[in-house]
Amino acid sequence: MTTKLAIETYDKIAQKYEEVYGKHWDDCEFTERFFSMLKNKDKVLDVGCGTGNSVPLLLNQGCIPVRIDLSSKMLDIARKKFPKVKFSKMDMRKLHFKDNEFDAIFCGYALIHIEKNQVPGVLNEFSRVLKKGGLVFFALIKGDKESIVKEPLDKNLKMFFVEFEKDEIERLLKRAGFSVLSMDEDYYKDEYEEYNELFLIAKKNRK
Ligand SMILES: C[S@@+](CC[C@H](N)C(=O)[O-])C[C@H]1O[C@@H](n2cnc3c(N)ncnc32)[C@H](O)[C@@H]1O
Repeated sequence: MTTKLAIETYDKIAQKYEEVYGKHWDDCEFTERFFSMLKNKDKVLDVGCGTGNSVPLLLNQGCIPVRIDLSSKMLDIARKKFPKVKFSKMDMRKLHFKDNEFDAIFCGYALIHIEKNQVPGVLNEFSRVLKKGGLVFFALIKGDKESIVKEPLDKNLKMFFVEFEKDEIERLLKRAGFSVLSMDEDYYKDEYEEYNELFLIAKKNRK
């Protein structure tokens, strides 16, 4: 009951998530840095796209985005917001894509719902579908916990969160064939939650 729990909860809070976080990528200096590194027509996999908050940013960049998420209800909202954009239900732990298919991966606050013992497998999957030199962006929660807590947006529900320390995620990425290009720390607080966050950009080194 971990990633499965997270998905069940996202299915229940999808509308509230959209109301609260629907525009949370607008004016984020860390995503802007990542998007500025992409080229026109780059094929970008948006992993755990949720309600589609990064859609305008990737389209503005001239990229060819491919979007996946495991929560049907989050995807329903994304499809309503962007009827012309394709969203697919897919688990990041088993990507149905060819090797070396993507120029970049955007993974905003989604690896935080994967059990720690499954993270190396996910990073290997990311490495597999990325071209050599391909870029990956992560937004993560900083810390050392892997826990089931009250869902910040609905205290009657539970959510599964995984936190990462800087040296830990760097080591995991290195093992999966990436080198970290930048890692920034920030503090986030709103009326529902507060945490330290990490923003990472890494590059795939191997073929
Ligand atoms: C905090 S939301 C972030 C959504 C979006 N990236 C954003 O920044 O607004 C986390 C998303 O990750 C998705 N997710 C969690 N585990 C997943 C998995 N194994 N495969 C695909 N998506 C997953 C959830 O369904 C949820 O939509």
